[in-house]
Amino acid sequence: MNILVTGANGQLGNEMRIVSRGSQDHYIFTDVVEVEGQETTILDITQLEAIRRVVKEQEIDVIVNCAAYTNVDKAESEPELAELLNAKAPENLARAMKEVGGLLVHISTDYVFGGDPYNTPCKEDQKGTPTGVYGLTKLHGEERIIATGVDYLIFRTAWLYSEFGKNFVKTMLNLTATKPQLKVVFDQVGTPTYAYDLAKAIFDIVGSRKFDGRTGIYHYSNEGVCSWFDFTKMIAEYAGNISCDIQPCHSEEFPSPVKRPAYSVLDKTKVKDTFGITIPYWTDSLRTCIKHIKEQ
Ligand SMILES: NC(=O)c1ccc[n+]([C@@H]2O[C@H](COP(=O)([O-])OP(=O)(O)OC[C@H]3O[C@@H](n4cnc5c(N)ncnc54)[C@H](OP(=O)(O)O)[C@@H]3O)[C@@H](O)[C@H]2O)c1
Repeated sequence: MNILVTGANGQLGNEMRIVSRGSQDHYIFTDVVEVEGQETTILDITQLEAIRRVVKEQEIDVIVNCAAYTNVDKAESEPELAELLNAKAPENLARAMKEVGGLLVHISTDYVFGGDPYNTPCKEDQKGTPTGVYGLTKLHGEERIIATGVDYLIFRTAWLYSEFGKNFVKTMLNLTATKPQLKVVFDQVGTPTYAYDLAKAIFDIVGSRKFDGRTGIYHYSNEGVCSWFDFTKMIAEYAGNISCDIQPCHSEEFPSPVKRPAYSVLDKTKVKDTFGITIPYWTDSLRTCIKHIKEQ
């Protein structure tokens, strides 16, 4: 198969580059800019004709869409751009794949939930109630993909981190190494996800052709539950940053342009049952990622 990855310079895109090394399928990595040392085809996913051209020329069977507008706070002041990248652009990819009978693998988020209070893990068919522009535009993206009639796998994930780009783990590695004290919110709980684990799951599902007849939305995060405070404590412990005094605090101590879900745990039963995969526990994956960051 010919598999095109968009947003290949981002966190998940870079992990797709790693997991697909040595694949029997032919992977083509695309993004809006080239990065030194990485083979990248330029493709702006807001441009339908450009997508159609590359799909035709490269005879693409599957698109894995890792591109998105991911700045949750900034989206509040740039709703049109967020809608373009998170809703219209995925529809473009879906239309292009529908025209050739291909598959679109798309990534969405736990932030499609959060408006309704709940305290049990969210299943795929729970009604979307986003609390901000980012979550709303990601929900629109899902709806627009489904409306095209394309074959799709939508993976909703959460709290993504990796050794690439900017993310919570890298920020906290730095802060816990340099600050004597740190306050971190304990009233928002969810599950971190190592982007490598998600990329590997996508790679295995696509590579094994297990997607036939399994169009749908699936939840994927690492296993377990924690607060941002617990997450930070483990980051500091694994990094050996023992001199920072980390204390829990309430979200209201850190005013933000967007309200985040208080309970943001995804139920992963469907993805495990459908594809027969096992998912690593969050602390095991965190330890692995920090080891890789330290080796860089
Ligand atoms: N990060 C999280 O915590 C999180 C949580 C839940 C779900 N997700 C979802 O997971 C997916 C992957 O997230 P990520 O953290 O890997 O994202 P990321 O690191 O922000 O990477 C996104 C990539 O898309 C590129 N891009 C932007 N506009 C584009 C365009 N018009 N055409 C093609 N590429 C474009 C970006 O380039 P520039 O950097 O140059 O703009 C970047 O390389 C996204 O769908 C996101 O919504 C993320």
